[in-house]
Parts: sequence; structure tokens; C-alpha cells
Amino acid sequence: MKKYLVTGAMGFIGSHWCEHLLSQGHKVYGIDIYNSYPKLNKHKNFIFIQDSITNLKVMKEYINKSDYVFHFASIAEPKQYIDSPRKVISVAGIAALNIIDFCRMAEKKIMFTSTSEIYGKNPKLPFNENDDRVLGPTSTKRWCYSSSKALAEHYLYACSDTKELDFIIVRLFNVYGPRLKGRVVSNYVNNCISNQDIYINNGGNQTRAFTYIDDVIDAFDLLFKNSKCLNNDFNIGNIKETSINDLAKLVLKVSESESNIIKIKDSEYYGKSYEDIDRRVPDVSKIKKFVKWKPKTSLRNGIKKMIDYSRKN
Ligand SMILES: NC(=O)c1ccc[n+]([C@@H]2O[C@H](COP(=O)([O-])OP(=O)(O)OC[C@H]3O[C@@H](n4cnc5c(N)ncnc54)[C@H](O)[C@@H]3O)[C@@H](O)[C@H]2O)c1
Repeated sequence: MKKYLVTGAMGFIGSHWCEHLLSQGHKVYGIDIYNSYPKLNKHKNFIFIQDSITNLKVMKEYINKSDYVFHFASIAEPKQYIDSPRKVISVAGIAALNIIDFCRMAEKKIMFTSTSEIYGKNPKLPFNENDDRVLGPTSTKRWCYSSSKALAEHYLYACSDTKELDFIIVRLFNVYGPRLKGRVVSNYVNNCISNQDIYINNGGNQTRAFTYIDDVIDAFDLLFKNSKCLNNDFNIGNIKETSINDLAKLVLKVSESESNIIKIKDSEYYGKSYEDIDRRVPDVSKIKKFVKWKPKTSLRNGIKKMIDYSRKN
């Protein structure tokens, strides 16, 4: 039985990954500040540490005890990049650097969840892992998340350059599914099933590559079991581009909702320090080449599963 540390274990992606590891018979140490998915605690091989990843003593102790570290804890809701940039930088950036250092010192492999936001507003599409990062000024708060994740990525590369650490970086593109909170898909699903208005910022022609959670879990599993993938970054995303307008229409249709669509300006929702990214499309040829992964779930099927789950819960 292997022992794995998952940070952000109670979060959307963390909780799905914990369930996957537990289903394979492993022991999981899960750390999170919130006990937001208590169902995990019922599993005999799950040990919950309710604490912050900024607690260095605790992080060092559990990294030392584990065979592999999955570092998922972060502030991932766009609204918080604007409302709490210091918190975003502390958790997504500074805490990540400390965790990477403990992994380096204890010689533990680490998987790090990065983001499609790394590419910023680069107009060259689809985004290849080696493409440029095109960002706005540091006075525009929304870029603090992208820059924090990029700093952690740089640090992983720096530690592996000196042969002190093995890592995998996964750059995720708009993952959605049951238990997602505070993101566009979950806001639309929750509002539609309760017939509340749904809001579209910035016209709705901006596109995203919505990727269903089960496909992402498959990708993680293939990557971390294959030693050829170490010390690489991988895009994980759907290659089908969907506009926010089309997403809103699809959620309305699949949920048979009577909600109204209301168009608002970014500044009304996020305040001034926000800038939208027009298009986000991944090039997934690298992950396809390394582990033959490609997404299987259509947006319609994924939305349907999410609606069914939300209605039951
Ligand atoms: N969901 C996506 O579309 C997406 C896209 C790109 C990147 N990511 C990255 O994937 C990871 C997981 O994202 P998610 O969507 O599951 O987000 P999430 O918000 O559902 O989960 C993050 C978890 O981290 C926990 N957390 C936050 N601060 C913490 C702290 N100081 N100490 C301990 N735990 C803390 C939260 O309580 C939460 O349970 C994050 O690193 C995120 O940046 C997600």
C-alpha cells in the first residue's frame, strides 16, 4: 500500500483524486482548511488533517511520511484574485514554494496543478506548453494567480535542473463536474436548477475548453504512473472551444430551466482590476504522445451528470 499526500483534499479536484487513490487501495493523507466533503472521512484509509498548507511543521511532517505529493490546494476562484490578491499569492505562490522545497529535501515526487491562465492573453491558439506567457501589468490584480502558479512552475524546473526533485506539472483548462464551486459552470448549473437568473460577463463570446473531471482524473492516473512523464508540463483540456453564450444556452436546455440570461459588464461583477481572456484552447498533442490521453466526455453529457448530481445533493 502506497501513502499519498493530497493538499486541497476536500476541494473539487482534490476530493475526486482522493476517491480515485482510495479506490485503488492506497492510504491517503488529505490536508485542507475545510472539511467540505466529509464523505471522505468514512474511508478507513483516509486520514484528514484539517490545517493550512502554510503550516510548515505539518507540511514537512506529512511530506516526509508520504511516497508522493499531489499539491492541489490553492485559491482558484477568479473573484478572489481581485478581492484577496495577497491571500492568492500566499497560498498559490509562497506556500507552493515551501511545499516544493520540502519535497526536494525529502526526495519526494510531486504533481503540481497549474493552470491555462499561465498563457494569459496570448492570441496564438491553441496553447502549446512552450508558448509565451502574455500578461497584463502587475497593477491589474487578476494576473496574480497566473504569476503565482508560474513562480511555482519555475521553482519546480529549477529544482529538477539540479537533479534534486522530480515533478509533473499539469496545466488544467476549466475543469467542471460534481462538487465544483464558485466557477462559471457551477454558477450556471446551480442557478438553472433553482430557476434563478444566470449572468454573462463581457458579452459571452469569450471561449473556454471545458473539461470533465473524470477525464482529468484519467489523465492524472496515466501521467503519475509513467516515469517518462517526470519533469514535464502537460496541458489537460478539451480541444473543443465553447463560448460562454453557448455554455449558458446548453445548461438552460439540459436543465429545462426557466432562468433568464442577464448580460453584465465585467466591472459590475469583478470591479475594475479584471481583464477577461478572450479565448483559451489547449494543444494536447504532448499528453497524447506521452500517455495516449484524450478527453472522452462531451460537454452535454458532462453538464447532464453535473445537473443530476446537484439535484440529488
Ligand atoms: N477547476 C479548474 O478548472 C482548475 C483550472 C486550473 C487549475 N486548477 C487548479 O487545480 C487545483 C484544484 O482546484 P479546484 O478546482 O479543485 O479548487 P477548489 O477550490 O475546489 O479546491 C481547492 C482546495 O484547497 C483548499 N485550500 C485553500 N487554501 C488552503 C490552505 N491555505 N490550506 C489548505 N487547503 C487550502 C480549499 O479549501 C479547497 O478545498 C488548484 O491548484 C487550482 O489552481 C483548477
